[in-house]
Amino acid sequence: MSELFSYLKAQTRDAHEALEAHYPFNRMLKTRRFEKQDYVHILQVLAAFHSHVKPWLTTLAPAHYTMLHTDAVESALHSDLAQLTQAPAHEAKAFHLSLPDTPSTPRTLAAAYVWMGSSLGGKMIERWLSTSCPDLPAAYYTQMKYVSRNWPLFIQAISTCYPLSDTQLTQTANCASALFAGLRETARRISVAPGLVAD
Ligand code: HEM
Repeated sequence: MSELFSYLKAQTRDAHEALEAHYPFNRMLKTRRFEKQDYVHILQVLAAFHSHVKPWLTTLAPAHYTMLHTDAVESALHSDLAQLTQAPAHEAKAFHLSLPDTPSTPRTLAAAYVWMGSSLGGKMIERWLSTSCPDLPAAYYTQMKYVSRNWPLFIQAISTCYPLSDTQLTQTANCASALFAGLRETARRISVAPGLVAD
């Protein structure tokens, strides 16, 4: 793996673990505890994340942008949520992020990393959903399984085409960690019911 992606993985390991331990993500893969409402919350958080960062990704070279399948991912999310909640797509939840709203290469690469990297766990989750919860709509995770096939090519292309200074490398990792924190904060706000806490 390239220096950039090894660094991002190491720098965001704790943030990823914290997200996995946080409601509603901590209900995933636990067949006996997993309920439809948990799934709705997960997809709402992910819809907020994807729609927030999608505009940041448009500054990638078209060949790299295409690998993220942004339109297909978004429409899969809307389709699953429409089936589960009957809510129109425009009722998307806000993404809560503590970051200045300034475009930069580190911000774009951090968003691309979290977007694309999430497809790795997504591939595993798709397998679990199809065997343990076959009645739930799974267009989003099916789409992420396809996205995950681009991971090896993606990390190679990004590492080659966007040389970063040490400062930019640190900024990219900080931004990726902030995105994980934003996912946790968005999850906390979406699932306000008492008792729904990480365990
Ligand atoms: C319960 C939910 C989740 C589980 C069980 C999970 C699981 C995993 C697993 C097993 C990997 C490593 C796959 C591999 O190395 O082949 C991974 C990687 C990753 N996941 Fe998750 N994940 C979850 C949620 C998320 C979410 C919601 C995001 C962000 C939207 C995310 C972002 C990432 C990223 C960026 C990586 C790449 C790490 C790296 O190799 O650099 N994950 N996840």
